[in-house]
Amino acid sequence: MRAALNPFSPGSGLRPPALVGRDTELEALDVLIERTRNGLDGRGIILSGLRGVGKTVLLNEMRFRAEDAGWFAVNLEARPDNAGAQNARRILAREITTQARQLSRRKAISDRVRTALQSVTAFNVKIGAAGIDLGVEIEPGRADSGDIEIDLPELVHDLCAALQEEGNAFGLFIDELQDLDPLLLRALLVTQHQAGQRGWPFFLVGAGLPHLPGILAETRSYAERLCDYRTIARLPDPEARAALEDPVAKHDVSFDPTALQLLLDASGGYPYFLQEYGRSAWEVAAGPVITLGDAQASAVIGLERLDAGFFRSRWNRATPAERRLLVAMAEDGFGPSASSEIARRMDLKPNSLGPYRANLISKGLVYAPDHGQLAYTVPGMDAYVRRHREDLT
Ligand SMILES: Nc1ncnc2c1ncn2[C@@H]1O[C@H](COP(=O)(O)OP(=O)(O)O)[C@@H](O)[C@H]1O
Ligand SMILES: [Mg+2]
Repeated sequence: MRAALNPFSPGSGLRPPALVGRDTELEALDVLIERTRNGLDGRGIILSGLRGVGKTVLLNEMRFRAEDAGWFAVNLEARPDNAGAQNARRILAREITTQARQLSRRKAISDRVRTALQSVTAFNVKIGAAGIDLGVEIEPGRADSGDIEIDLPELVHDLCAALQEEGNAFGLFIDELQDLDPLLLRALLVTQHQAGQRGWPFFLVGAGLPHLPGILAETRSYAERLCDYRTIARLPDPEARAALEDPVAKHDVSFDPTALQLLLDASGGYPYFLQEYGRSAWEVAAGPVITLGDAQASAVIGLERLDAGFFRSRWNRATPAERRLLVAMAEDGFGPSASSEIARRMDLKPNSLGPYRANLISKGLVYAPDHGQLAYTVPGMDAYVRRHREDLT
């Protein structure tokens, strides 16, 4: 069928043609918006799950809804390779300032908005990200101590005081939150904590890998109570069907039931895989019915594409020694694997595994679901490793 009309969208953070199976999470955000409008309290939201399940897409959708509701919404993607902590802070300060420009452009600026703009300017200058003029003089002594754990709460307080006048809120949307520098993360949790106690409408909405809730709890013991934690996983059968069927139905195309079943099985309900197989099926089919033969061919093509893209891009990040670790893990299927057992398979002493393990965690390829355990962050990584065992080591 015509490539120009292919509705599927495999790729990191790409909005799917049908965003299915995430109603309860989106409803949680809608409730939060409604509550703040009514001056009621709420909690931040944390989305965690494996790669390719749709966290970024969902986080973006939440941000768009918050923006539509008039929130002061700031977007940030944390990176492990941030050239130091300063970088993340500078980006955060710049993003806040960019948003604040909209407040500064208003015809009538209330005292609270003026104070907020002054704090934003001071915060920005202190962090060294100057360059955007908000048209106010800096008031020394607000959000400019240089200690992020003091300055961030002050800044958020001043912004929230202004936003509250209009029933709005400050939403900080951070993707790959597990990679944020620890001091900034701590400052964010401290701020969220104060916000909850003092009724400031400030909400951290974050997404990250499965061990993100653990990182937050280690950073601040009260983190558990601060946020609403949601696990994002593969789609249940009815939603996975809809993810394939709804986008093609718009073009009067349908799947033969056996074809649909084959692609559901091949994808395991993982959103990224559904998009990749859907795209291939559209390409090979003559239409208007996608047949079992089409599905068989697209399962082969789709998997080749996943291998060449989704999996290989992750695999390429590992050094040869780290790859040996990934191969050793594959004996446990999708895992998790016991660290001691991996070390044994690699002929290493248990404590020699440490550096490889730490590097793979910081590269986001594996995580520790529990003490002494290791698991892949990428669904299907074990099967990829088995498929390519010969050319991998
Ligand atoms: N709810 C969903 N239904 C169908 N496809 C989805 C859904 N959420 C995400 N996708 C698709 O899955 C892929 C991965 O999404 P992404 O948000 O980047 O995942 P993650 O951030 O968890 O790695 C994208 O191609 C996206 O279009
Ligand atoms: Mg993502």
